[in-house]
Amino acid sequence: MSSRSDLTIMRVCFIIFLLGVLVELCDGGITSEYVRGSDLPDDMPLDSDVFKVPPGRNTPQQVHITQGNHEGNGVIISWVTPSAPCSNTVRYWSENGKSKKLAEATMNTYRFFNYTSGYIHHCLIDDLEFDMKYYYEIGSGKWRRRFWFFTPPKPGPDVPYTFGLIGDLGQTYDSNRTLSHYEMNPGKGQAVLFLGDLSYADLYKFHDNNRWDTWGRFVERSAAYQPWIWTAGNHEIDFVPDIVRL
Ligand SMILES: [Fe+2]
Repeated sequence: MSSRSDLTIMRVCFIIFLLGVLVELCDGGITSEYVRGSDLPDDMPLDSDVFKVPPGRNTPQQVHITQGNHEGNGVIISWVTPSAPCSNTVRYWSENGKSKKLAEATMNTYRFFNYTSGYIHHCLIDDLEFDMKYYYEIGSGKWRRRFWFFTPPKPGPDVPYTFGLIGDLGQTYDSNRTLSHYEMNPGKGQAVLFLGDLSYADLYKFHDNNRWDTWGRFVERSAAYQPWIWTAGNHEIDFVPDIVRL
């Protein structure tokens, strides 16, 4: 009996030893030397260049895309027109395609306490080819804006695809550094998995939703060109019963 328990103890010790060796030997490496500073910087002021409204009357802004279906050959293109519904159509075409296609968006607005949103457009496109560069245009006339994105390769067991991970971004000076760091990373993320806590607009009085608009303009430089796939964080819970009933 005692020899059996001795054996068990020896096995447990051996497994612990083995785990210790593995922990010692395993080194996931460091993907970046970048370390965010420990001081909490201020939010960038409203007139910062990263928040700039694109020129023209009612030009689409806050343009961003996200994955549009489970297969990976769809995207949802979203944007805001500030003062009028404007064009609600997306024109898109593949890099080697002969014809341009049109897709119609849905549109809505919302109010939050003393804030009224612009016209928010969402357009699903799900007839795309895998592993292809697409261009898309939104808006009309002189102020039409053009962007592009790449669809992922057809899913398979050994298909490489690089996700970037970003969370708690906000709109401080460090937020700008973080986004620039992601954009310049030689690893070249092809889509962002966003881990929640986007704009931190809820830190403002009345959860000033104008800070959602500035944030949308801030991330456009990346989110219009590759899918950002979202989860909501605690800062997305706008529970303020004293000012608004949701
Ligand atoms: Fe957070």
